[in-house]
Amino acid sequence: MDEFSIDQVLAEVAVLVKPHFGKGRPADYIPQLATVPGSKFGMAVCTLDGGEHVIGDADEPFSVQSITKVFALGLALNRFGDEVWTRVGKEPSGTPFNHLSQLEAEGGVPRNPFINAGALAITDHLLETVRDPAALVRGFAGFLADAPVQIDEAVAASELAHAHQNRAIAHLMRGRGTISHDPEAVVAAYCRQCALTMSCRQLARALLPLAAGGFSPVIQETIFPERLTRRLNALLLTCGIYDSVGSFAYRVGLPAKSGVGGGIVAVVPGKAVICVWSPELDRFGTSVVGTAALEAFSQLTNCSVL
Ligand code: DON
Repeated sequence: MDEFSIDQVLAEVAVLVKPHFGKGRPADYIPQLATVPGSKFGMAVCTLDGGEHVIGDADEPFSVQSITKVFALGLALNRFGDEVWTRVGKEPSGTPFNHLSQLEAEGGVPRNPFINAGALAITDHLLETVRDPAALVRGFAGFLADAPVQIDEAVAASELAHAHQNRAIAHLMRGRGTISHDPEAVVAAYCRQCALTMSCRQLARALLPLAAGGFSPVIQETIFPERLTRRLNALLLTCGIYDSVGSFAYRVGLPAKSGVGGGIVAVVPGKAVICVWSPELDRFGTSVVGTAALEAFSQLTNCSVL
């Protein structure tokens, strides 16, 4: 992946993904997200040596949504260590990200920290040490991206007004003792966290420590211990794309996290972090064009970890 060829590869990827537009649909259960044009496409590749390669709308902020769960989990593991795993599992769920009956059948303990139940449990855990977990996540993401990061209050309000499923999940977990704060407060904090807006370039920069053994080449600081970094990547590889994580690994072969804003971040350990954004989603809530772009990039550069 030399500098020159990354630019060439991105140009080729942008052509290869063209037939995939129009196959998915922007998220509409958060009405504010449905207003983003489906034609948007951006991609950024940040390399460990400071290289940044972008194409399309890579500098346009979009709704980060579930990709924020990576920042929240990293913060929680740095703060609480393995105590996190007394409340949340580490297994792929095989169910949609907002599934309810599996959670009920399994005693209110979420399968992993990336499904909504798991992320709500992480928010609840963070509420033990901070009053405003969304501000904490926003500050952490901004610190790592070395750029100011905003919360889109219109998106947060739009999600909160329709967050019936997440409320059901939070109340179920409160009833079973997985979370200890007011479920309404947990859901409100979680919706604000998900409403962070960042560009592809900012997200790739911010998550570069995952490719660099925990060190951020952007701010020249160690963010996560090396062992924790490997474990975060293991969780991304096995749980980051919910109930289509197997086919994603088959096609792309990289640890990754999706969000219903249409973003996907993928980690190439030892080399780079890639972020792609395109709002039209498949039925699992993952960007159709984004997955096709990562598949093409992985094949063209032979960067799969598998
Ligand atoms: O809780 C939700 O449904 C959204 N705020 C986040 C879901 C999400 O991004 C799933 N990822 N593909």
